[in-house]
Amino acid sequence: MTNIGIAITGSGSTTPELCLDNQGLSQIAETSDDWISSRTGIRKRRLAQPKESLCTIATQASLAALAQAQITPIDIDLIILATSTPDDLFGTASQVQGELEAYRAVAFDMTAACSGFIFGLVTAAQFIRTGVYQNILLIGADILSRWVDWADRRTCVLFGDGAGAVVLQAAERDRLLGFELGSDGSQNSCLNLSYQPQPKQIIAEVTVSQGTYQPITMNGKEVYRFAIQKVPEVIEKALFRSDITVDKIDWLLLHQANQRIMDTVANRLKIPPEKVISNLRNYGNTSAASIPLALDEAVREGKIKQGDIIAASGFGAGLTWGAAIFEWGFS
Ligand code: UT7
Repeated sequence: MTNIGIAITGSGSTTPELCLDNQGLSQIAETSDDWISSRTGIRKRRLAQPKESLCTIATQASLAALAQAQITPIDIDLIILATSTPDDLFGTASQVQGELEAYRAVAFDMTAACSGFIFGLVTAAQFIRTGVYQNILLIGADILSRWVDWADRRTCVLFGDGAGAVVLQAAERDRLLGFELGSDGSQNSCLNLSYQPQPKQIIAEVTVSQGTYQPITMNGKEVYRFAIQKVPEVIEKALFRSDITVDKIDWLLLHQANQRIMDTVANRLKIPPEKVISNLRNYGNTSAASIPLALDEAVREGKIKQGDIIAASGFGAGLTWGAAIFEWGFS
């Protein structure tokens, strides 16, 4: 069997129109623009209004990615939607498939929190490498504002909503050079959006659990420590698997959670600041959307060019983390 490679041939993204800046946030929580921007680098975030759904933003980002890749919805074999905030717990990917009229495609959701895009990229790559599918739409989209406790200043200042998508296609030369993924459930309690059971007796001696999801809770310091340790490590492992050295990297593209995390990781890897892609100040942490959103902006601004090598890394709840080294485009 001849080896089948992967090329990432298009990207797209969208964010809701409604914008809330740090000043606005300080009206609802005991915080300030100074604290938020100096501790995180975030200045504003976009928030989905009730009329907007995960399906609508995921579909918009997908259409832009398909247009850039110059393929049509009917060409898509598989849709993977990385999200922690589906419109429907049974999954939202099929709704996106319906909206796109991508009738040949099979579609499913994938949950790996802020690592979702990287985990999705690696999952999609397996389907292409085995020759099963040729054209895959990978979406990272989240509306975390639905699950933020707007009275908790430790978390409400961090998150925003958005969607990003890429098209992966089978190619002769493989542009996914290497990857590495990790999970550590023993640290699960550091970051949660968890179901809280509520006993409900339906008949005598039959009690089921009918609760709901509780707002996001996070031990920021622990997650920070985890990120600055694991992210450089996982990128180094992915570089080793790619058989390239760090100086060959054109761009460092991290999950956009905190500018201080990005600076520390770049510093540890000896990657100069001008190679670090960051749009966190405008959008906050958009979870599974953050990497494809920043990727798409950098591609459309002409920063990332055909043939550039990108080291991307996601990290977050689970805890989960991962890195992928890939070359942009078809060149
Ligand atoms: O996508 C998932 C990945 N998540 C992350 O990567 C998050 C990683 N963690 C972080 O980015 C940082 O830990 C935070 C930005 C969340 C917090 O920054 P920090 O420098 O670790 O602050 P801290 O939690 O140690 O809090 C310092 C102080 C505390 O006051 P005291 O106890 O020193 O009096 C907090 O109560 O700042 C206070 N504080 C705030 N003050 C104003 C916490 N949040 C705020 C706030 N505004 N929003």
